[in-house]
Amino acid sequence: MSYLLLPSFNSKTVPVIVITDVAQAVPMAHALLAGGIDVMEITLRHPAGLPAIEAVAKAVPEMVVGAGTVTTPEQVQQVVNAGATFALSPGMTPALIAAVKAAKLPFVPGVMTPGEAMVAHEHGFQLLKLFPAAQAGGLAMLKAMGGPLSELRFCPTGGVSLANMNEFLALPNVAMVGGSWLTPVDLVVQAASSSDWSSITKLAQQATDQAASSQQ
Ligand code: 3PG
Repeated sequence: MSYLLLPSFNSKTVPVIVITDVAQAVPMAHALLAGGIDVMEITLRHPAGLPAIEAVAKAVPEMVVGAGTVTTPEQVQQVVNAGATFALSPGMTPALIAAVKAAKLPFVPGVMTPGEAMVAHEHGFQLLKLFPAAQAGGLAMLKAMGGPLSELRFCPTGGVSLANMNEFLALPNVAMVGGSWLTPVDLVVQAASSSDWSSITKLAQQATDQAASSQQ
């Protein structure tokens, strides 16, 4: 496995997930799959994140599980051990890049400027997370980078929603979009306590349908 080659998945939207109880992980994975989303970015922002990655990796093989908010070399090894098949970060540091290379963990570095994008490209990365996308300049920034840095592809994250996702996906240098709107923490807590995950499936299905309409 190369640190440059992401596992394949179909979804054009990547849910950025904060899991607050490991018991939420597997039902959430099934709910997203039922709505056509076969990828999860489970962030390390809560201590339940790491065991949640492990739970989904073990129990839901059809779900591609990535680890999000990976910011230190130590976390790289932890997410590999948990079974994550790729990782994303809000940024990129020399130590983090060395760690993903050593672990051969496919990685999507976060960038916010052309200079950062060029550093990532020097390391071989072609898919980059534009973060925070809205604050970085959103659609206009991506259009501007498409000229001089046309070989790069982006996953804008931060400020993306159902309302604007297709505007991003219409850009030739946007491969996919990420966002927390697909798994709002309050809705997840409610779904877990009622064991009814249909609200999450509905959000996933809306995004899947919307992305499909952009490709017609
Ligand atoms: C991320 O961590 O990638 C972002 O916080 C998600 O941003 P959003 O909440 O605006 O979707």
